Formats: sequence, structure tokens, C-alpha cells
Amino acid sequence: MKFTRRQVIQATAGFATGAGWIGPLLAQTPLNMTTIPSSGQQIPSIGIGCRNYRGPADSQEMSVFRDTFATFHRLGGKVVDTSPNYGNSETVIGGIMRELGIRDDLWLATKVDRTDRASGITRMERSFELLGGDSFELMQVHNLRGADVQLETMRSWKEQGRFRYIGVTTSSDRQYDALAEVLERHRLDFIQIDYSLGNRNAAERLLPMALDRGIAVLVNLPFGRGRLFRAVGDRPLPDWAADIDASSWAQVFLKYIMSHASGAIPIPGTTKPHHAEDNVAAARGRLPDANLRREMERFIDPLLS
Ligand SMILES: NC(=O)c1ccc[n+]([C@@H]2O[C@H](COP(=O)([O-])OP(=O)(O)OC[C@H]3O[C@@H](n4cnc5c(N)ncnc54)[C@H](OP(=O)(O)O)[C@@H]3O)[C@@H](O)[C@H]2O)c1
Repeated sequence: MKFTRRQVIQATAGFATGAGWIGPLLAQTPLNMTTIPSSGQQIPSIGIGCRNYRGPADSQEMSVFRDTFATFHRLGGKVVDTSPNYGNSETVIGGIMRELGIRDDLWLATKVDRTDRASGITRMERSFELLGGDSFELMQVHNLRGADVQLETMRSWKEQGRFRYIGVTTSSDRQYDALAEVLERHRLDFIQIDYSLGNRNAAERLLPMALDRGIAVLVNLPFGRGRLFRAVGDRPLPDWAADIDASSWAQVFLKYIMSHASGAIPIPGTTKPHHAEDNVAAARGRLPDANLRREMERFIDPLLS
């Protein structure tokens, strides 16, 4: 796509006007994509986490959840992460996808959180009932629970076409060694781990391991459950944010993750339409290089200590 000088100036001016608005030029560009090493499939480099999609069907929150999902989808979002472990999240998002008719447009990941084989099977069959469809893109062992046992079933269901990819998750560095051992024993398509500008431990061993072995990475807790927003408070964005086309703190935090060499895909927990808009916008434009990544780390560290 070619732009006139006037368009470029208009788009750049957009950065000064506030969070979530990225300017007309950038908003027209396609989302940045990440390639899944085990298949070559390309998916958008931002997802949505559904840990907080819970509640009674007739609650007011439900229409806000639906609008958030509709916004995410309208803007080109695909990657959705949930779990049977998140209250009634699978019921809620299964209902929203049916109502909006978007199930087949999305790239759906859920999890299994049981220790033994039989309960794992029951749990995964239930996810199919609630989320609909004949297959999921990704099934993950939640927090490594019963990993060896569940992965056996998951591998055979993958062969049957019920899952396109399989993986494991954690959100705690107490499990990093165990996760590395699982990677030694099993051939996985994905890992999901906690990694953010304020929590960089996964970059020491697990992200390099994923990169070496051709394993794709989903990133949970990209905002440290809000800790990063509390750290920056109402500070204005530093000048370097414009160099990476970031017009909000959320985009700064997400672009830090996306710029890791592993091609990590953040899945921010998002239950508000304006947050979905802000987060999907992070998948457009430039990413920080190694120098700027270090500068971002130097910026955030004193604010977190
Ligand atoms: N072990 C595991 O497998 C595991 C563990 C934890 C999480 N996860 C997955 O990772 C996802 C993300 O984790 P998380 O939700 O716990 O934490 P998170 O993504 O670090 O933070 C979520 C918080 O950030 C807020 N937020 C989202 N976008 C924002 C924006 N643009 N500006 C300001 N605030 C924004 C959300 O508010 P709103 O809700 O109001 O939009 C919510 O309060 C989960 O939903 C889940 O899918 C997996």
C-alpha cells in the first residue's frame, strides 16, 4: 500500500491525540502476523484471553463481553484463549460465538486441567460441547497438570484431526523447570507462558528453548494482571513510543512481547471493547529493536521496584 506525504503526516499526527487511536493510515494496514513453526500457518500476532468471561447469562456484563468479542473479531482478531478452569468462560464465549456466528472465523485455544486420563477425556469432550465445532486449533495442558497422561490423549486426538496443535501452559516460574522437562519428553507445537516487560524470567531459558525447537509461544499475563499499568500511572508516553507506532501504554507493553525473537503472541485478558481496540492496534506498525527493548527495560525497572 502506498501513501501520500499528506497521509503520512496525518497518520503521524494521530499519535498525539490519545490512547487507542492510531491514525487513519496505520489503521488501514493489515495486522502483523506470526508464523507457527510446526505448520507454517500465519496467525495475527495478538490474541484475547478469556479468563474473566464469567457470570450469569442475563447479567449486564454479558452484553459488554459480546461487544468486546465483536470488536476483536471486526478488527481482524482471531486467536482466542480460554479454559474449563475459568468459571463458566467456555459457556459464555461458546454462546457469544454462536450468537455472532463467528466460531469458524476464530482460532480457538482451550485447555485440559485434570490429572487422570478418563477425567481429561470427559473434560475435553465437554469443551467441544460448550465451544462448538468439530475441532480446536489448540488444546493445552493447563499448568502442566497430568501433562504426560493428557498429552498422550491429545496426540491421538490431534492425529484424528480434533486438534490442529497441542501444547502446555504455565503462568509461574516455579513451574519453568518442569515445563522444560516436558519439552525434553514431548514434541509440542505451542507453549503458553507468562512474560512481560515487568516479568522477563521466561526469556532466560524457556523462550530460547521454544525458538530452538520451533515451538510457537502464547504469552499470558502480558500486563502482569494490571501491574504494569499501575507502575506507569498517568505518566505520558516516552518519545520512543512513536518510533514503534504505539499510542498507548498497552501497545508499548504488547509490542515489547511481540518483538521477542520467538514471535511470542500476547493474549491480553480483555473484557472491554475499547481495550480490544487498543490491544488489536498493537499488532500494527513497527516493533522495538534490541536497543529499544533494553531502553524499555531500563525505563520500567525503577518503576516496579
Ligand atoms: N496458566 C495459564 O494457563 C494462564 C494463567 C493466567 C492467564 N492465562 C491466560 O492469559 C490471559 C491473560 O491473563 P490475565 O487476563 O490474567 O492478565 P493480563 O492480560 O496481564 O491483564 C488483564 C487486565 O488488563 C486489563 N486490560 C486489558 N487490555 C487493556 C488495555 N488496553 N488498557 C488497560 N487495561 C487493559 C484488563 O481489563 P478488562 O478486563 O477490563 O479489559 C484486565 O484487568 C487470560 O485471560 C488467560 O486466557 C493463562
